[in-house]
Formats: sequence, structure tokens, C-alpha cells
Amino acid sequence: MTELDTHARDAAVRALADARRILALTGAGISAESGIPTFREAQTGLWARFSPEDLATPEAFAREPERVWGWYRWRRTLIARGGVNAGHEALAALEHHRPVRIATQNVDGLHAAAGSSDIAELHGNIWRERCSACATTATMAVAPADEDAPLPVCSRCGAPTRPDIVWFGEMLPADALARAEQGLNEADCVLVVGTSNRVYPAAALVETAIAGPATVIEVNPEATPVSTAVDVALRASASHALPALVAALDAAPARR
Ligand code: OAD
Repeated sequence: MTELDTHARDAAVRALADARRILALTGAGISAESGIPTFREAQTGLWARFSPEDLATPEAFAREPERVWGWYRWRRTLIARGGVNAGHEALAALEHHRPVRIATQNVDGLHAAAGSSDIAELHGNIWRERCSACATTATMAVAPADEDAPLPVCSRCGAPTRPDIVWFGEMLPADALARAEQGLNEADCVLVVGTSNRVYPAAALVETAIAGPATVIEVNPEATPVSTAVDVALRASASHALPALVAALDAAPARR
């Protein structure tokens, strides 16, 4: 594991210590070290191996619900097996220092599992199902080993249910987006963790943060389109960088 660049780490710790409120914008990279594949990385990314048109659109679900459900059930299995990692835990621990809102593109539910209390799920949640006809939602018990079970149906109207996830061509949930935007307006420090910053409107939140007064810290082992525009770029994995930042805050004298 490489050491964090000391200059960048100190700048990040200073910004977090000086902040009154923190917003964390997270993506698939924060769950990568739980063994859950990201989307756009060459070779290992889900979209390098599967076609979004076949699996993550309303048209695909209408055409082949078994195939779509098979894929989401497989992903549930990976998530349940992987569980939270030190990156999720560090963001939850950051709440001991400051109010932290998390706006995540992830659907895995792992921020909540790690204990974060204020989460806006921009792309839905893989553990929730939504009726394709009457929009009733239900949260599934964590029973991932159901890859071959019959397709789920709505307990109210009997129509097929779908994963409560934002598919390509669909709108983001308005309440989650509004909470992310509010978090952005109120935060004086924004952490951007584990996202390629390529998917809108989530990527627009990062652009707004960069254009605004908050200090923006990116945590990503790879460069992204915003890396040269952020205030601090920590070129490291989330499970390495985030615990290091929280440990430095724990060691620093309290500042309010
Ligand atoms: P991507 O797969 O596009 O990007 C993942 C990012 O995580 C990359 O920039 C990696 O360099 C970085 N990364 C990898 N390992 C990391 C680690 N250990 N620590 C920190 N960063 C790491 O994933 P997202 O940006 O989240 O949408 O993708 C956005 C959306 O595209 C997803 O929510 C999904 C997808 O289509 C839906 O499914 C609705």
C-alpha cells in the first residue's frame, strides 16, 4: 500500500477539520474493495462484460425479466458476500467529527450497513423492489441465494416487481437529488470518492461543487475528468485514504 502524499493528506485533513458540514459523493469505487465490481474499469468493470441495454433499461425488463432479475440477484449475492469495508466505515466514523451527508450513486446499501445516518441514494437500492404496475415498493430481506427463485410479484396487485433502481433513460428520485443538492449548498467540504464522474446528473453535482466555495477532495486511485479541477486529489483507494483521514482528525485537537 502506498503512503498518501503528505501534502495532499494534510490539506485534506485541514479542510475536513475546518468544515462545519461535509458532503460525500460516492460511486462504485468505494465498494470495490468489498469485492463488488465497478462499472467502467477496463477488464473488470461490469459494463466491460455486460451490455447495459440488455440489463439496465425498462425495455430490457419488459423483454426479458428473467435475465434482468438473474443479473440483479447475482449482484445481490456479491454485495451480501462482500459486506462493508474500511472506506464505508470511515465515512460513518467521520460523523463523530462533523455532520456528514452521503449522496451515493451506489445501490448496494453498504453506507447504511456501515452506520452512516444521512444518505441520499441517487440511483435507488438493489434491496428494494418496486411494482412495475402500481409502484408499491418493498424492501427485501437479505436473502441473496435466490438466483433461481420464481420472479417476484407485487404483494398488492400481483404484477411483476422490478429492482428499485434507476435504469438508463429514467429520472433520478427527486427527493434524493434534492437532498444531494441541499447537502451541496450547505457543505464547506465535499469528498468525491470512487466515481469516474461520467454519469449525469451525479457528475453535475461534482461540477457544481468545484465551481462553488467548498473545498473539494477527490479520493480515487485513478485520474478522472475532474482530477485537475478539484482542490485536493488523493490518488489512493478509499479503504486506505478515508481511514487515514479520519485517524488524523481523531488525533487532531478538537476544532469547532
Ligand atoms: P465507475 O465504474 O464508472 O467508476 C468507478 C471509479 O472508482 C473509477 O474512477 C475507479 O478508478 C474508482 N475506483 C476503483 N477502485 C477504487 C477504490 N478502491 N477506491 C476508490 N476509488 C476506486 O462507477 P460510478 O462512477 O459509480 O448506474 O458509475 C456511475 C453509475 O454508472 C453507476 O451508479 C451505475 C453505472 O451505470 C446505475 O446502475 C444506475
